Amino acid sequence: MLRTREENWQALRQHVTSDVLLKHSMAVEVAMQAYAEKFGEDAQYWRTVGLLHDIDFDKFPNEHPAHAREILMAYGYDDAFITDVESHARDWPKERSFLQTTLLALDELTGFIIACAMVRPDKSLDNLEAKSVLKKMKDKGFARAVNRDNIINGAAAMGIELSEHISFVTKALAQAAKKPEYQNPPLI
Ligand SMILES: [Fe+2]
Repeated sequence: MLRTREENWQALRQHVTSDVLLKHSMAVEVAMQAYAEKFGEDAQYWRTVGLLHDIDFDKFPNEHPAHAREILMAYGYDDAFITDVESHARDWPKERSFLQTTLLALDELTGFIIACAMVRPDKSLDNLEAKSVLKKMKDKGFARAVNRDNIINGAAAMGIELSEHISFVTKALAQAAKKPEYQNPPLI
């Protein structure tokens, strides 16, 4: 049932118009793919869950992700895929699989890392170190909307040391930011 990246992207574009949310979707896609490759999982599947995880957010910000199912069903995504998308609800009642745990762990971290890069003089991810991201996490005035506990708990739930998690995701984002498919809109 999995389609090409272009088809998944077009489905997303039909429901998400904000550049901010498109960039966020791309960043989570990139990080999901990188972790799938690291752990020998199905990278195509993981990246697609990441790309489409917020597909209902533009239209239903207050009910998100409760409308993901109806939207994704209309494109023929199957129940397992849709459940993986729904699982990043903060109040998800079931135990999360490793994919689902990873999705939640990346949801806030990706944006925080990009925010850290944007305040650098070069506005680049290339030389962003985990220690400076960790320092920014302690700065309560910086990117205040990002819930630090979600980032910390996400790494713990994955069983990965936080700075290693940050370094891994930063490198994945930095590499993707140079690729042609991440230029419109630009990932960073
Ligand atoms: Fe998200």
